[in-house]
Amino acid sequence: MALYSEKVMDHFRNPRNVGSIENADGIGEVGNGKCGDIMKVYLKIDDDIVSDVKFETFGCGSAIASSSMATEMIKGKPISEVLQLTNQAVTEALDGLPAHKLHCSVLAEEAVRAAVQDYYDKKGKE
Ligand code: FES
Repeated sequence: MALYSEKVMDHFRNPRNVGSIENADGIGEVGNGKCGDIMKVYLKIDDDIVSDVKFETFGCGSAIASSSMATEMIKGKPISEVLQLTNQAVTEALDGLPAHKLHCSVLAEEAVRAAVQDYYDKKGKE
């Protein structure tokens, strides 16, 4: 069996939603101290719906594929659903990741949550 699924390879080779958003409503940046990879997620939020999302990932292929998949999964979704996003869901959507690459999907979950947190902070909400 190949180490990486077709979906991982597809999102790694053709990542969706790469880039940044000017005047984003929420920005989340997280890093993994061990591998040194960094992920940044930008959210545009209208009426509590993620109307646009972009990411910049300086990291491994699995981190790029995870961020690409995570952004696809939260685009157009209400914040309440976005907060339910887990790294397991991202991993499943990618048809799996090797065990030693699971932390890359955790980074995607954390970056999305950090961006929502930033949005709430800016709004002065809990
Ligand atoms: Fe660290 Fe992939 S090796 S995010």
